Amino acid sequence: MKVELVVNGKQVSADVPPNTLLVQFLREHLRLTGTHIGCDTAQCGACTVLADGRAIKSCNALAVQMQGCEITTIEGLAAQDGTLHPVQAAFKECHGLQCGFCTPGMVLSTVDLLQRHPSADERQIREQLDGNLCRCTGYQNIVRAVQTAQQSTATAVA
Ligand code: FES
Ligand code: FES
Repeated sequence: MKVELVVNGKQVSADVPPNTLLVQFLREHLRLTGTHIGCDTAQCGACTVLADGRAIKSCNALAVQMQGCEITTIEGLAAQDGTLHPVQAAFKECHGLQCGFCTPGMVLSTVDLLQRHPSADERQIREQLDGNLCRCTGYQNIVRAVQTAQQSTATAVA
């Protein structure tokens, strides 16, 4: 089946088997391997991407279901000149990662949260990241990174 999407601002189309998962499409057809596969059963959140601005688990959606959507992966977040997105910069600054396996999903879930709830409190942050598992950082620094991103985003729009 033909699938047509906008991925990181670029129009893409391909013929794929109808059972192709969005995560397979991104990783295997587009070579966007920053979207990770940790479980393949919609539990770990490593495969999280934005679809029309909302965080979704890309192992839990067929590519053809997303027809016409705008998908953002971790590769699409930084500016053209390499300047990190404020959420990426905050994860770096706060040591919100160690091995980095969960990080693309954590970052994209955070972007979704801060777009919808710029003033999210700690409970809301933890609830949003409930579907994203990290095996090595511990969640304290991740929450701190989200709060730091909140502050820098608020400063940027003030
Ligand atoms: Fe999609 Fe784990 S790989 S949730
Ligand atoms: Fe290693 Fe989260 S940084 S799994």
